[in-house]
Amino acid sequence: MSISRREFLGAGATAAVGVALAGPAQAESVIVSGVSPALRRLADNRPAIISSANGIRGVAKAREMMLSGADPLDAAIAGVNIQELDPSDHSVGLGGLPNEDGVVQLDASCMHGPTRRAGAVGALEDIATPSLVAKAVMDYTDHIFLVGAGAKRFALEMGFKEQNLLTDEARQIWLKWKANHDSNDAWLDHDDDVKIAFTHGTINMNAVTASGDIGSVTTTSGMSYKIPGRVGDSAIVGAGQYCDNDVGAAGSTGRGEANIKIAGAFFVVEQMRGGASPEEACLRALQRAIQMTESRLLDERKRPRYDLTYYAIAKDGRYGSANIYEHLQFAIADARGARLESCAYLFTDSERPRGAVPMHTLTH
Ligand code: GLY
Repeated sequence: MSISRREFLGAGATAAVGVALAGPAQAESVIVSGVSPALRRLADNRPAIISSANGIRGVAKAREMMLSGADPLDAAIAGVNIQELDPSDHSVGLGGLPNEDGVVQLDASCMHGPTRRAGAVGALEDIATPSLVAKAVMDYTDHIFLVGAGAKRFALEMGFKEQNLLTDEARQIWLKWKANHDSNDAWLDHDDDVKIAFTHGTINMNAVTASGDIGSVTTTSGMSYKIPGRVGDSAIVGAGQYCDNDVGAAGSTGRGEANIKIAGAFFVVEQMRGGASPEEACLRALQRAIQMTESRLLDERKRPRYDLTYYAIAKDGRYGSANIYEHLQFAIADARGARLESCAYLFTDSERPRGAVPMHTLTH
């Protein structure tokens, strides 16, 4: 299915059209959805849970848990724990790509709809499951956000186990980056055809139970080779994830610096509150993020040199996701099972800027 940008704007709720029109009007865009919105509005599909594509195992587990009566946040966190503990996922937890010093620093945040509580940690070291530490901040403190050494001390006090999160594979990738990113430093460049991995990949998961209770969580190792101490959007309630038990939940993956400036997850939930479908709300957030992007990260046609994705679920189980460029998928588990579907998007892959682009801005 493919609709034009004009049709997309026309289809949106009147209250939100101004937001969409305020986007990068110079840039033509095509919006494509993997499953028709009509299908997504069919009968009650709850419990339902949406995540970034790396959460395909997690959404299946979370749905099973909710079918057995689990709390939506507990289910979502159990879902993301699979990736946090998987050393082959270099975007999160154990095996995540490190900062420029070779140290893995993790960010996470969560929200619990029924109790309207939130918790978050930033730049947390040596604990593989920051999502659970964020939930512990929510459950056991009067605070919402702990960072750095204080977050680690809190985690240890809560009984979390310390471990080295830099796997040998991630260390090898980091060493390649270190050797190749600056030809004037004292590290000899590899003369083989080195392909360096970059990420600000992440996992976001948003769950709604059969009775409409909602939870959301996002966890990440953040932008690879970042400056030590950098905290991205995943740790920030309202940016990396947000949930309102009356409306729905949303979260993001991709370039956190682009998302933080628009409080993206909050923006998406507020769009849904105003009547937008989850997919429309995600598309509007992308438009707003591009509108707020500095020119060095846009090409001459106002197309971003980075990726950003939103995921959203409504209280009634409707869901949707949108990415700036085509060919990204998201994971969903509902009454039709666990599966990957295509994200809606603003620009085709052929429209993606080429040429001298800072690598870390491009990859997911
Ligand atoms: N979205 C993950 C990050 O930028 O840290």
